[in-house]
Amino acid sequence: MKTLLHFLFLLCFNILLPAVHSQCIKDQQQSLLYLKKSLQFDPLSCRTPLISWNSSTDCCSWRGVTCNGDGHVVGLDLSTESIVGPIPGSFANFSNLRELYLGSNYISGPIPGFFANFSKLTSLSLRDCQLHGTFPKEIFQVPTLQTIDLSGNFKLGGSLPDFPKNNGSLQSLILRNTNFSGSLPESISNLKMLSTIDLFKCNFTGSIPSSLFSLPLLSQLNLSHNQFSGELAFSNVSSNLVTLDLSFNNLEGQIPVSIFNFRGLQSLRLSSNNFNAFPINSPQQLKYLTNIDLSENHIQGKIPHWIWSSNQLDSLNLSCNSLVTLEPTLYNSTVKTVDLHSNQLQGQIPTFLPFAKYLDYSINNFYSFFSFSSNNLHGLIPASICNVPNIQILDMSNNSLSGMIPQCLTAIRDISVLNLERNKLTGTISNVEVSKDSSLEILEIGRNQLRGQVPKSLAKCTELKVLNMGNNNITDSFPCLLKSISTLRVLVLRSNNFYGGIECLNTNGTWPGLQIIDLAHNNFRGEIQGILWRTWQKMMVTKDGSQLTIKGHKLRKIYNYHSLTDRGNYRLNKALTESGLMAPTDINKDLTDRGNYRFNKDKNPTNRGSYRFEEVSLGFEYGISITVTNKGSEMNLVKILSIFTLIDFSCNNFSGPIPKEMGEFKSLHVLNLSRNAFTGEIPSSFGNMSLLESLDLSQNKLSGHIPPQLGNLTFLSFLNLSNNQLVGMIPTSTQFSTFPKASFTGNKRLWGPPLTVDNKAVLSPPPT
Ligand SMILES: *[C@@H]1O[C@H](CO)[C@@H](O)[C@H](O)[C@H]1NC(C)=O
Ligand SMILES: *[C@@H]1O[C@H](CO)[C@@H](O)[C@H](O)[C@H]1NC(C)=O
Ligand SMILES: *[C@@H]1O[C@H](CO)[C@@H](O)[C@H](O)[C@H]1NC(C)=O
Ligand SMILES: *[C@@H]1O[C@H](CO)[C@@H](O)[C@H](O)[C@H]1NC(C)=O
Ligand SMILES: *[C@@H]1O[C@H](CO)[C@@H](O)[C@H](O)[C@H]1NC(C)=O
Ligand SMILES: *[C@@H]1O[C@H](CO)[C@@H](O)[C@H](O)[C@H]1NC(C)=O
Ligand SMILES: *[C@@H]1O[C@H](CO)[C@@H](O)[C@H](O)[C@H]1NC(C)=O
Ligand SMILES: *[C@@H]1O[C@H](CO)[C@@H](O)[C@H](O)[C@H]1NC(C)=O
Ligand SMILES: *[C@@H]1O[C@H](CO)[C@@H](O)[C@H](O)[C@H]1NC(C)=O
Ligand SMILES: *[C@@H]1O[C@H](CO)[C@@H](O)[C@H](O)[C@H]1NC(C)=O
Ligand SMILES: *[C@@H]1O[C@H](CO)[C@@H](O)[C@H](O)[C@H]1NC(C)=O
Ligand SMILES: *[C@@H]1O[C@H](CO)[C@@H](O)[C@H](O)[C@H]1NC(C)=O
Repeated sequence: MKTLLHFLFLLCFNILLPAVHSQCIKDQQQSLLYLKKSLQFDPLSCRTPLISWNSSTDCCSWRGVTCNGDGHVVGLDLSTESIVGPIPGSFANFSNLRELYLGSNYISGPIPGFFANFSKLTSLSLRDCQLHGTFPKEIFQVPTLQTIDLSGNFKLGGSLPDFPKNNGSLQSLILRNTNFSGSLPESISNLKMLSTIDLFKCNFTGSIPSSLFSLPLLSQLNLSHNQFSGELAFSNVSSNLVTLDLSFNNLEGQIPVSIFNFRGLQSLRLSSNNFNAFPINSPQQLKYLTNIDLSENHIQGKIPHWIWSSNQLDSLNLSCNSLVTLEPTLYNSTVKTVDLHSNQLQGQIPTFLPFAKYLDYSINNFYSFFSFSSNNLHGLIPASICNVPNIQILDMSNNSLSGMIPQCLTAIRDISVLNLERNKLTGTISNVEVSKDSSLEILEIGRNQLRGQVPKSLAKCTELKVLNMGNNNITDSFPCLLKSISTLRVLVLRSNNFYGGIECLNTNGTWPGLQIIDLAHNNFRGEIQGILWRTWQKMMVTKDGSQLTIKGHKLRKIYNYHSLTDRGNYRLNKALTESGLMAPTDINKDLTDRGNYRFNKDKNPTNRGSYRFEEVSLGFEYGISITVTNKGSEMNLVKILSIFTLIDFSCNNFSGPIPKEMGEFKSLHVLNLSRNAFTGEIPSSFGNMSLLESLDLSQNKLSGHIPPQLGNLTFLSFLNLSNNQLVGMIPTSTQFSTFPKASFTGNKRLWGPPLTVDNKAVLSPPPT
């Protein structure tokens, strides 16, 4: 019977266990059980910790345990086992371990020195724990060690030791997101087997040893976000290098010409340093580059031809440098995303067109975003830019472009955003044509010298959200044709020659989402009927409903491709929330959580993931910038568009009473009706505009008392009622007591603080 049981027992094991299996030696089992006992586990964890570690079974079959042929434990994988507290001394019993994985636990405290005595150790991972203190240097020198991963222990630090010659088999050194510091020892080049070095976001200083670049097998080098300084000097290089990331350091001088010797380089990131020059051209080419990011340096002069030479090139970022010239490229570039913003590039846009043509060769389902903003461009806008396939965002704002807007530009069917603001464009816009099924959502042509009338064809833009024609010389009546566009959120007609009334009698259209309407500095006139305001619901609701999105569905589709990096995520979040293009809730749902999660899961985020991300990020760094006058000074609305509401009718000839219906604008932040000919009393309903921050009714013909209800406006921080015909006592309220005299002067029969010290009427007008 005993033998039968024994037989069954063995049979059972032979079925359950892998074929190559040996039974655990008794003392190994004891050591493991002792270890289990000495470990602390998170009491809130849902799983019973190490449940398979049961003395009635063979310890070589326990979860996370690997034995060698004679039953010695050679591998322990206790990752994500909810272990808390310090690493217990009982690990010292396993000095024959080859692999030890303790990552993703809540292990804290320092790392014990006895690991340095594990003379067969090949892999050690303590990633994503909460270790702190100084890492024992000797562990780096265990000669069998191939992989060491201490990443994600923000408080774990120390410096790297000297590595002896001809010793060490280290292949991966992963210290990202730790507090390792000091300089990189020159002797790191003794580790001839190194292929991955990831020191992203540590605290290393000093210069980067040139010998590092000659490590023969090195393929991934990420030293981004440290404090490396000095010039980069190396000549002998590893031709196996695939990714080189030295971004966010303090490196300076010329980018060395020897980078051309990294024949297989796919990703080159040197952004956010102090480099000042490109390497001169080389006979060699970097044929496999997909991603070049040299942004935020001080690189001067011209953009070299070689930059276009890779026929894999997908993304090029040279923004925020001091580049001056761009020559036509000699190559057929496949580049999809180019960011040249914030340079001093001069000359005419045609120099860009080679790659516009080349874009024809690529698969073009991607978002095309072109920003030439703030680049000192002058000359005409070349009509050939319209040939760029799939162009969706074109931002040429803030240059010195002149001449007319090419007819073809607005006629591009897929263009969503066209920003030509702040240029020197001339000519009439009356005949500007948009395509029948236009996708135009944002059209900004403000601050130019455009003439003529509002183009009739704009009525076809059924998705238009932002129309900014301010500061031009447009002569027209109020564009009632826009009334049919129910999506309109922002209308800026400021500083033109618009005239006549603003009622649109022949249309039933409404603007339920209108947030900003700026008609200031025109020749509008006539009375405003109360009924008009009723159709601007956005200004009446206190809870913010829908957010401004651009082609939301298309972009979301792109997001799904990404494995977002911390930095990427941060930047995208920032860009999206600041531009007001998407509600933070959307970001959380569709991006942050999932993006982060995926990134954490995915140990090796591909380049592809990150560059595609860059692409979207670029697209969305396009903010809507509208300059309006608020509280007497100009302000930029990039950051707050999604919650900001404004009515500015100042400097026109509006007359008659101010409609009491305006009091229903419970979401209005800024109201400016100054310098018109309004008469009658200030409606007491104004006391209901509970979010009002700025109210300017100055220089009208308003009469009667100031309604005491205005004292209820607790957010009001700017008030100007001066130069009217108001009478009586200024209401006393906490809010009113903060306004200066100037808010009330020029009303002959107005009295009380702050105009007069006491609360008695004065017969003579107060001095101004
Ligand atoms: C393991 O280590 C502990 C102390 O850390 C010791 O008491 C024990 O005897 C060792 N050996 C075994 C087989 O548990
Ligand atoms: C070990 O396993 C046996 C049988 O599978 C079970 O009865 C026993 O309760 C387990 N012991 C512990 C400590 O989990
Ligand atoms: C490492 O092993 C040596 C020799 O066996 C011993 O003297 C030393 O104390 C051990 N170090 C640690 C930290 O356990
Ligand atoms: C990082 O290390 C430095 C010393 O190099 C120390 O002053 C600092 O407190 C450490 N930071 C953390 C978060 O542990
Ligand atoms: C490598 O270093 C270890 C300890 O530092 C030493 O025991 C071993 O002999 C060295 N091996 C070689 C090949 O130099
Ligand atoms: C880098 O080191 C400095 C001091 O050496 C310390 O103040 C700083 O917190 C460290 N940075 C990080 C990210 O730990
Ligand atoms: C470059 O590398 C070769 C081979 O590894 C070596 O012989 C030569 O001395 C190195 N040259 C320099 C300047 O380091
Ligand atoms: C370096 O690490 C950072 C952070 O994960 C990442 O964004 C970057 O893409 C890495 N560099 C390369 C070239 O892979
Ligand atoms: C660029 O593309 C054109 C058109 O396909 C082709 O005729 C030309 O040979 C290409 N030039 C290079 C340098 O590949
Ligand atoms: C504006 O246009 C009118 C004619 O429409 C013209 O008389 C006037 O000179 C223009 N003003 C400027 C500043 O160009
Ligand atoms: C306005 O609406 C009414 C009723 O819905 C309709 O009869 C009339 O034709 C509409 N007017 C215009 C200009 O669309
Ligand atoms: C608004 O102000 C009036 C007069 O000062 C006061 O009677 C009234 O209660 C206030 N209303 C609210 C909602 O605070």
